Amino acid sequence: MTATGKVPALFTRMDESSKDEWMIIAQETMSNQPRVAETVLSMMQQLEEITDGFAVNQLVHCLQTAGRAEAAGADEEVIVASLLHDIGKVVSVPNHPKIAAEILRPYVREEVVSMIAAHQDFQGRHYYEHLGMDPNARDQYVGQEWFSLAEKFADEWDQTSFDPDGPTPDLSHFEPMVRRVFAQAHRL
Ligand SMILES: [Fe+2]
Repeated sequence: MTATGKVPALFTRMDESSKDEWMIIAQETMSNQPRVAETVLSMMQQLEEITDGFAVNQLVHCLQTAGRAEAAGADEEVIVASLLHDIGKVVSVPNHPKIAAEILRPYVREEVVSMIAAHQDFQGRHYYEHLGMDPNARDQYVGQEWFSLAEKFADEWDQTSFDPDGPTPDLSHFEPMVRRVFAQAHRL
């Protein structure tokens, strides 16, 4: 039996599946939607293990970033995106912005996805020169309607959030917001 009390699909290869079986799978998948927020929260916890030479671990950095977004009056999608912006580092540092953006994509509006996908190049204003990269990398996005949001995120919230003595909300403070944002996929 499935969690919703149905007989599970019995096909062993997709080309032998039926519409009824796919209706069961769709219903079951929707009933398991809360799993998404819980997985995201457990990935956030894993960021505590990643410091990589910074003054604070990546969980503290993300909590401080989201706390600043909230204090600035950002809406819930932006606060949750700020919290998750470095979640991709659990998997891989080099492509972490794109990983975070794709986790968020079905659940938040497009400008918030873009803000996260491009956040490293906006951050670059403050450190790319030390790595022989172009500090003006953000200029490629001039004219995008989300440019000023991404600027605010990088300049006011993200790049300022590496302070071991800085205000750091608990992850539990953000958990209800994470559960609300991930409660329903708006896009495939
Ligand atoms: Fe960051």
